[in-house]
Amino acid sequence: MERKLPSEKFKDLKDSRLFCTPSVFEEVKKSYNSNLEASVSVAKFGKPQDSTGVFGEMSELARIAYKNSDGFSHFGYGGTSGANMAIFNLIGNMFTKYDSKPHVLAARNVHQSVVEGAMNSKVPVRYVDTNFDSSSGLFLPPTVDDVLKEMNSDTKVVLITRPNYEGGCFDLERLIKELKVRDNRSFVYVDEAWGAHLAFNPNLPTSAIELGADIATQSMHKQGGGINPSNITHFGKRMKDHRNEFYNSFNVTHTTSPSYPLLASMDVTRQVMQEHGKERIETLIEYASRFRQYLSSIDGVEVMTFEKYPSIVDSDLTKVNIDVRKTGMTGGEISNLLQERYKIIPEKDEIGSLTFIMNFALNPGDIEYTADKIRGIIQEGRRDDSASSSRKNYAPLPRRVERAYESFEVQTMKKEDTPFDIKSLVGKVSGENIKCYPPGIYVVQMGEVFDKITVEYLIEQRSRDGSLHMCDHNNKYVKTVDMKK
Ligand SMILES: Cc1ncc(COP(=O)(O)O)c(C=O)c1O
Repeated sequence: MERKLPSEKFKDLKDSRLFCTPSVFEEVKKSYNSNLEASVSVAKFGKPQDSTGVFGEMSELARIAYKNSDGFSHFGYGGTSGANMAIFNLIGNMFTKYDSKPHVLAARNVHQSVVEGAMNSKVPVRYVDTNFDSSSGLFLPPTVDDVLKEMNSDTKVVLITRPNYEGGCFDLERLIKELKVRDNRSFVYVDEAWGAHLAFNPNLPTSAIELGADIATQSMHKQGGGINPSNITHFGKRMKDHRNEFYNSFNVTHTTSPSYPLLASMDVTRQVMQEHGKERIETLIEYASRFRQYLSSIDGVEVMTFEKYPSIVDSDLTKVNIDVRKTGMTGGEISNLLQERYKIIPEKDEIGSLTFIMNFALNPGDIEYTADKIRGIIQEGRRDDSASSSRKNYAPLPRRVERAYESFEVQTMKKEDTPFDIKSLVGKVSGENIKCYPPGIYVVQMGEVFDKITVEYLIEQRSRDGSLHMCDHNNKYVKTVDMKK
């Protein structure tokens, strides 16, 4: 037998300061009990896929706790990615009942699970104009007017990501009001992966289901106090007619061997959130406020706020974003040093910024300690001439991208390898989805036509080590398909 297992390296995480997911309540960690390992063969517990038996009791308690007043809620075990896959399977089935050509209208800053879910279920997705701020590098939500402008009688579902990765919130309340005034029957679906805590503290933006959304998918392990990859999906009143259809969709998109210890931990997560969520979140908000104060006193660091963006009307106060472009260091360089030297793990780094989430496992002293280490790294980096500077703006992205085919049409088409440069790519149709991570958004989707601005953005992203995710791991060729004749 090997003396040392590769996975033993994970033990190094002990004593780390996590400003990233998962943000797990101590009670939930302790509740994880491997003796609960079981399977759907144990008939008396009911089935997690369709919320029967014990799972039905758990879901009903969650519905009440998460303030889903007149719908139903459902625990899942594939993160929000799994929940989105199930929802797109459901939407695909619902769309077969329309005579016309229904589509989902989505904000462009959707997670990969939305794009892949739509593709697998052959659901056409139309996008609202991209709202990318090239001075901060942030993918912003669209304005309500941008969304309304794009809707037509075939728009059967409107999909919004809220909060976005950095915590900024779209004006969902106004969208839902406007749709009601127009007597519009489109379903409102919110990817609320980052919002499993919203229902539990009045100082946070109101949760989607409380605002009247029809569907909201949440990762419990992000800001919700739960273990990876727990999730919960909330359905409003209008979705009650589709309840059994959803259970079928959930069933075919998820493992048939769910983890019972994980399911039990979600029950505990719900309980801790319901009983203590308000004060625990208050503590995180206080940490974040203190962190912002310390960070803003560091030379070159700018604490990011959202006031200047009309499409952001509220924000998650448990997240802290900083712009580091004036420090002479990149977000990645600072993050690497924090991790290597001090076991401090930020949630996300980009060329010119860093995002920290206040994790339920943090201690009061971690805030000053971390701010201090960031100050030290930046002071040292400033003295070092080799530190790469990134004071400039990001390359921009186009507001609108031409689409030659639906993504699902491209899946089975013959693909060619085209050299990754402006001359060869501009005007070609993409045969693959290309993602920059972070922030994890597909900048190019299958079936879209490359334009010069997009290719320039991708070339800039290629210069960041390992940030561009595409079929060719060497980033030399891009899969393309023939343009429609
Ligand atoms: C907006 C959004 N949706 C969905 C997901 C996927 O969530 P999970 O990692 O729980 O599958 C993420 C992950 O970062 C996300 O940011």
